Amino acid sequence: MRYKILSILREKNGFVSGEELGSLLGISRAAVWKNIMRLREEGYDIASVSKKGYKLNDSADILNKNEINYENAMFLREVDSTNNECKRQAEKGCADGLLIVSDYQTKGKGRLGRDWSSAPSQGLYMSIVLKPPISPMEAPQLTLIAGIATAKAIKKITGLDANIKWPNDIIVNGKKICGILTEMSAEIERVKYVVTGIGVNVNDEAFENGLKDKATSVYIETGRKYKRNIFIDEILGELMKYYKLYCEKGFSALKDEYNKYCLNIGKIVRTTGSVPVKGKALGVNDKGELLIETDTNIVPVLSGEVSVRLKNNRYI
Ligand code: BTN
Repeated sequence: MRYKILSILREKNGFVSGEELGSLLGISRAAVWKNIMRLREEGYDIASVSKKGYKLNDSADILNKNEINYENAMFLREVDSTNNECKRQAEKGCADGLLIVSDYQTKGKGRLGRDWSSAPSQGLYMSIVLKPPISPMEAPQLTLIAGIATAKAIKKITGLDANIKWPNDIIVNGKKICGILTEMSAEIERVKYVVTGIGVNVNDEAFENGLKDKATSVYIETGRKYKRNIFIDEILGELMKYYKLYCEKGFSALKDEYNKYCLNIGKIVRTTGSVPVKGKALGVNDKGELLIETDTNIVPVLSGEVSVRLKNNRYI
């Protein structure tokens, strides 16, 4: 009921009397008041003025299911890691596409065993369970798809020139604004489920010393605070569109789109890993492997195995 009140207040975009709300919803004015109080407890800023009624000041950055266009979602205030929660839900047999969002992660995880700093109310921490009909070797392709969806969403919402450092760091003005972590459970030939976790630095005002030169946020780049729900909606919309295409046609249908965002193309890169490959990056192939032109040949590198460094450790 309270969310119906919210949508009426949003739609009217001005004062609405308790009487009008009550009669639109078939409840008493006292019940309207009770629901308004609950919405305020959730963080919604609703003004009440006698003889005028209620008005929503729609600037609060509240994460909840009601604020996004997606049914299969769980919103949490706190969790160890949204990726871990997705894995727990997947083990219990959740449906393809379950989304988990949390305001705060106590053990946010990055790639290669690193931590992902996850302060409350600043960044966006979301993960999704996917069950594509693919082999384990193909799972890293989902990271690339999440990268396209996120770079595109950041660009659309903020106008920032967001691009991808292969395989999956989203970079703005030479600094990382988003990271993506894909984990999976698989049998030898078949993926049981994949969890793709996306962390976007949205409203972070600053980063601690070790990260300052490498990380940035939407706020730092634009000087504006954003509602994180807007990012969830946009990223999910793009991701589900690409995911559908991927399940129907495979990664080759998305290769050109990925390469449009890929910062590495034409640059000298060196892979990390036990046998480093150094050369000029040519972009990804139909399998999502980065093609590197070395002095002797063209080597395809799979994103699940290594990441790349650009010359002098600079992104651009
Ligand atoms: C990286 O660049 O190292 C990957 C970072 C991934 C962070 C996100 S935040 C949401 C999800 N939950 C996690 O614990 N990690 C991912």
